Amino acid sequence: METTLAPTASRQHADTPTTARYARCIEVSKRIRWEIERDVIRDRRFDFGRKFMPDGLSKIEELAFLAPAEKRFLSHIQGRTYANMFALVERFIGAKILEMSEGHWLGDQVALEALVRMTDEELKHQELFRRLDRMAATGMPDGYEFKPQPNDVAAAVLSKSSWAVLGLTLDIELFSQAHYRSSIEPDAELSELWKDVFLFHWKEESQHAILDELEWRREHARLSAAEREQGVSDLVDLVGAVDGICAMQASADAAYFVANAGRSFTAAETAAIDDLMLKAYRWQYIVTGVREPRFADVIRELATPAQMDRIGAALAPILAHAG
Ligand SMILES: [Fe+2]
Ligand SMILES: [Fe+2]
Repeated sequence: METTLAPTASRQHADTPTTARYARCIEVSKRIRWEIERDVIRDRRFDFGRKFMPDGLSKIEELAFLAPAEKRFLSHIQGRTYANMFALVERFIGAKILEMSEGHWLGDQVALEALVRMTDEELKHQELFRRLDRMAATGMPDGYEFKPQPNDVAAAVLSKSSWAVLGLTLDIELFSQAHYRSSIEPDAELSELWKDVFLFHWKEESQHAILDELEWRREHARLSAAEREQGVSDLVDLVGAVDGICAMQASADAAYFVANAGRSFTAAETAAIDDLMLKAYRWQYIVTGVREPRFADVIRELATPAQMDRIGAALAPILAHAG
């Protein structure tokens, strides 16, 4: 039907470079799309005779007094927590991306499709990571507990400004890829299934990080200087919240390890295990992200030098411990 109205939104935007980037994410997302059972699990189980978390991320090698089997058990604990951490953050990431899609409802339909696909993928990833937790439980003693509650954390995160949430999201989605490339993929001693899960996850996260950056820049462009200042304050708060989650789970996981390792440890050894776990989780969930060159480039572009100083001051004690 011919009308005299303006061209459709998608045609209006079809040739902009930004739309082309959203379109590229859709194209790759369709090409690499995978299913949990058919492509990832394939009727397999974890090999508990091999490690889950790679040495490059776990820092377990620093605990020289542990026997190889104890190090392997600790890598299973960290690897189970790693899956649960992703399920946790993807609860708020999915909700935030769905919320951001509203800005495209009656606009760029290509961008809308890209964000809807990303939301769908994050729902699938959460299901995959819940599945991983149940499969990990079959080869580990009872008593493991993942402390932070996804909905409570998501509600707290989503109460912060979108500028801050998108910054944290870009950071997470970039470190998830960096972890795979630099530590998981090259480690030949890992359980094949655990490794494959993060290979498949990495494939979809590559598009997510592109979308996070596009949405973070779009949000940034819309805000006043005062709103951006608030965004920085919120991001500083979120770094503190992530650090609190790292501390809570590190102490739960260290206690679970000590209770189930099958021998006693001296007070000094127990303290070293406690410290190692916090250091490892700070490294995994904070330090590796802020050190990603792509993240550093974007945030330096969006934040003023004074704002970068504020963010740097919030990170300083964490980097001093785990950097
Ligand atoms: Fe994901
Ligand atoms: Fe993602």
